[in-house]
Amino acid sequence: STIYRQGALGRRPVVPADFAELERRARRVSSARAWAYVAGGAGEGRTMRRNREAFDRWAIVPRMASGAADRDLSVDLPGGRHAAPVLLAPVGAGALMGAGSDVRIARAAAATGTAYIFSNQGCTPMEECAAAMGDASRWFQLYWSKDERLVEGLIARAEAAGAGALVVTLDTTVLGWRPRDLNLGSLPFSRGQGIAQYTSDPRFREIVAGRAGRPAPKPEVTLGAVRTLLAMTRNHPGRFWGNLRSPLPRASVETFLDIYSNPGLSWEHLATLRDRTRLPVVLKGILHPDDARRAFDLGADAVVVSNHGGRQVDNAIASLDALVTVREAVGPAPTLLLDSGIRSGADVFTALALGANAVLLGRPYMYGLALAGQRGVEDVIRNVVAELDLTMALTGTPNIAAITRSLLVAA
Ligand code: FNR
Repeated sequence: STIYRQGALGRRPVVPADFAELERRARRVSSARAWAYVAGGAGEGRTMRRNREAFDRWAIVPRMASGAADRDLSVDLPGGRHAAPVLLAPVGAGALMGAGSDVRIARAAAATGTAYIFSNQGCTPMEECAAAMGDASRWFQLYWSKDERLVEGLIARAEAAGAGALVVTLDTTVLGWRPRDLNLGSLPFSRGQGIAQYTSDPRFREIVAGRAGRPAPKPEVTLGAVRTLLAMTRNHPGRFWGNLRSPLPRASVETFLDIYSNPGLSWEHLATLRDRTRLPVVLKGILHPDDARRAFDLGADAVVVSNHGGRQVDNAIASLDALVTVREAVGPAPTLLLDSGIRSGADVFTALALGANAVLLGRPYMYGLALAGQRGVEDVIRNVVAELDLTMALTGTPNIAAITRSLLVAA
């Protein structure tokens, strides 16, 4: 209702209230390279499409005259209470959408009381984002590095930076097949974007220096290396000149590409997690019910049912469809988050009715960022939450627990 009141008072919104227009306008202001990376998906884009189509197969059945004038949108998740069942998904290489993006997102999250999950592939060290958020809620997302020293280091930093939970992303042990980026010959990481968590990590510097200590390959000045250095100068002047002293950016980029993940990641690695951190552990990227059961058997506090926004496996199951089978498999108690394809408050409602405890937004808030910086992110969050609130008012659901499967039918 605040949103309508502001509209009535003539406040012009900084972002469109509907996703289709938000996307159109964000595309117009983005470079081809940024758009390919952020909006793109794996292969032919079938998973990305399916994520949306899955929502169309359910219909909400509104209920009347519930007698409840107010709604309580808050939810308890491992690690704390949230004002609404919406969190900001970890999104790497955000600098593609403008300099300082991670800090802008962090401020928007804090201003709206929304938890922000810092990406392992952030463009700003997590400590700087945390400092911009005061006491507001943040989590940290980890890619399990091939080098255990980095795993230890990133977990320790996340704890020190006040993370409320540790999210370990399982679905990106290698990068998916992404034709749009491949066709443009561009991935942000090769240009030094998205490696700030590493270059600011003393352990990573040690690793880079250790590698350089081996019989050193002669420094070769290739066209690619020059391009990388130029891009780094443009995107992060401060960091670039700082890095020039030591270690060499190129060595950092190459080391990063080599060790950011562990293609051999197994349940044996994950079994060690419980003893490595005092934080709640959230496993992200689960789609199969057996994997979900296994995650909770290992002591995970929550699972994010996700196909990474359709960016990893083409023709994969829609994450909303996976949510249904995962919820059936694990029963009502375990905490399930859902992402991939959430575009509106009505989508959040549908996901909650199908068994999610909360959802993550990915691209929508990045589009808000592209259009209007911090204010744009804030408004995208407010719009989604406002529509959820209105949907609850119109379906007779005074709180999140009241949003159940009985309010949906197959469409
Ligand atoms: C992502 N995602 C992601 N996930 C993760 O665990 N670590 C990461 O660094 C990234 N990076 C990333 C970059 C970009 C540009 C996008 C669009 C996505 C996946 C993200 O957390 C989330 O799962 C999806 O974005 C959710 O889908 P929607 O909302 O974008 O459809």
